Amino acid sequence: MTVSLREATADDVALLTYWDSQPHVVAASGDDDNEDWSHALATKDDATWYLVAEERGRPIGLVQIIDPALESSHYWGDVEPNLRAIDIWIGEEADLGRGLGTKMMALALQRCFDPAEVTGVLIDPLESNTRAINFYRRCGFQDVGPRRLGQDDCLVMRIDREQWRRATTSDIP
Ligand SMILES: CC(C)(COP(=O)(O)OP(=O)(O)OC[C@H]1O[C@@H](n2cnc3c(N)ncnc32)[C@H](O)[C@@H]1OP(=O)(O)O)[C@@H](O)C(=O)NCCC(=O)NCCS
Repeated sequence: MTVSLREATADDVALLTYWDSQPHVVAASGDDDNEDWSHALATKDDATWYLVAEERGRPIGLVQIIDPALESSHYWGDVEPNLRAIDIWIGEEADLGRGLGTKMMALALQRCFDPAEVTGVLIDPLESNTRAINFYRRCGFQDVGPRRLGQDDCLVMRIDREQWRRATTSDIP
């Protein structure tokens, strides 16, 4: 596979900050203030994983995975144990729509479901981000319903282990 994931390090701070300033990332981020990446990486808890996606060694985007029940900000509120929640974005506008996000998501879901106890994965696109919502549906996520998270009107979506297993054995890479 031409896309791989690796852990983000302090060396990625400038790039992550630059990606955050890109209009297509800002538009998808809702009320999130610009992340202080230096602080975020240095103070990361054990229930948060920041993974840089690379295409043949070139950084192209970020996947953030959390255990929503254990993550320290409790962004998801009361939530059942043994889930994961994903955020995903591609840094450069020129890299959108090239199939890279599909590959990143396949790798991210593989990581999420790697521990046998994980039963499902959540994602929370802005309700207005219809392209991302369609993308997630194609990746196998199903709508759970609208929910206000922070200051944002989001659509909560979820893929359970069995749906993921079936999706990975069908034509979705
Ligand atoms: C969502 C995203 C990760 C998908 O990755 P991608 O490599 O662009 O997607 P692929 O090429 O694998 O698949 C194409 C689909 O991605 C989605 N997509 C493409 N450009 C997009 C954009 N600017 N914003 C949101 N989704 C987009 C569409 O569903 C597209 O299908 P379509 O052409 O039929 O509309 C990527 O588009 C992205 O980073 N978008 C901006 C940030 C964002 O919206 N992140 C999600 C926050 S919840």
